[in-house]
Order: sequence, then C-alpha cells, then structure tokens
Amino acid sequence: MGRRKFIAGNWKMNTSRESAVQLARQLAAHLGRVEDVDIALCPPACYLLAVHEEIAGTRLALGAQNMHHEKSGAFTGEVSPVMLCDCHCTHVIIGHSERRQFFGEDDELVNRKIIAALSHNLNPIVCVGESLDQRESGKTMEVVGTQLRHALVGVRPEQLRDVTIAYEPIWAIGTGRVASPEQAEQVHAHLRSVLTSMYGADLSMVIRIQYGGSVKGDNAAGILAQPNVDGALVGGASLKAEEFIAIVLAGVPA
Ligand code: 13P
Repeated sequence: MGRRKFIAGNWKMNTSRESAVQLARQLAAHLGRVEDVDIALCPPACYLLAVHEEIAGTRLALGAQNMHHEKSGAFTGEVSPVMLCDCHCTHVIIGHSERRQFFGEDDELVNRKIIAALSHNLNPIVCVGESLDQRESGKTMEVVGTQLRHALVGVRPEQLRDVTIAYEPIWAIGTGRVASPEQAEQVHAHLRSVLTSMYGADLSMVIRIQYGGSVKGDNAAGILAQPNVDGALVGGASLKAEEFIAIVLAGVPA
C-alpha cells in the first residue's frame, strides 16, 4: 500500500533540559539516518529549541504536544502555531486524550486547532480514542468515528495529506494494557472507512493512522504488522532511547 510508517515520541510533561538534550542526542545518533520510517520527537514546549539543535540536519522531525489556534494575542500561558514554526516544529499533536480529559478540550476546539495548524503548514497528529466504559458498552466505533468526523470539519482534501490520525484507546495509555494487534486493526480499519466516506478511497488510503497506548519495544512489531496500522504514537517508552529505537526499528520494512 506504500504508506511509510510514522513513529512519534510524545514526551508529555517529562524530562529536564539536560535529559531532553541527552535523549535527543542519542536518538539523533541512532536514528538520524533511518530512511524507511518517519520519526518525530515531541518534547515539552520549553525544550523545543534545545531538542531542535540536537536533531537539526537529521531525519528526525520536531513536534509540539499542543498549541493555541490563534496566531498571537492575550492568551496567557498559550503557545501559537506561529511560535511553533519559529521553533522549527513541523508537527503538532492535537486533541490528545489528556488534553480532552484534563483541560476540557472538546471536538470543536480540536477542530479549530487542526484548521489553524494546517493553515500554518504544521502537520497535525490528531488523536481519537475511547474510554474503558465506552469500549465495554460497545461504543468504540461510534465514539472514534464521531471524534474523527468532527476533527476534520472544514479540512479540504488537499490538506488531508498533511494529517496523521492517532488512535489512542484511553484504557491503554500509560497502563501497560496494550490493545491487541487485532483490536487496533479493527478500529484502524473503521477509521479508514470513515475517511473513505468523507474523502473517497484514493485519499483515505494514503492517510496514516498511528496506534498509541503502551507501545513498547517488545510489542511494537505485532501492532505495526497490521495492514491499517501505519505507525505509533509512543508515550512512556519514548523516554528511553533503547525502547524508542527498538520501536522505530520494528517499523522498518522487511
Ligand atoms: P503510553 O505509551 O505511555 O501508554 O502513552 C501513549 C500516549 O498517550 C502517547 O500520546
């Protein structure tokens, strides 16, 4: 199908300046020339520039974990898309479940941020995912489908190519309870069918859908082998160089 795998590390609110630089340096040394997998590092906003210095000139891309949708203004504590570009970001995670859960981000705000990211040439990684309750009551497909449709309102077909979707079941995030490859594939196939209904089959086939939730070096290969799993959005394991390297290498085509 020709979709190149895309592995992104979401460092969340972790690292210090020193450990962020150290981690970026190790990853640049080991992964900086990997050709067959796309890789992005998403450190905390205050370390973006320091990480950029370590990965500049390598194949590692830089992403932010969140952004405001306005260019500038009286929004105390927020970081704008223009600022992220100024700090060399090419990617930004939007609508992570932790943003939705702890910071009240709803589908409408997520959509605004995606539109803003795209208009500044930032590639959004758009997160969707169901809670354990929703899964157990059989609502997974409905929940993720609704999140995806809302997220992409107003996204034009020619912009969709810049979008990555990340399926992150909330019950698998930071819990060590990874979705089985079959569970992930089922939801990914559904998300692709939603994309097909919105944009047609040709376009939906080129959009990458990452899986996120307790991905580690030793479970990555099984998940990444699924036909509709095009990469991973990695939390905890992205903070350990050897784990993240193993995950990336699991994504290299045989
Ligand atoms: P973990 O890999 O720590 O489960 O986190 C997943 C995640 O939320 C990535 O965005």
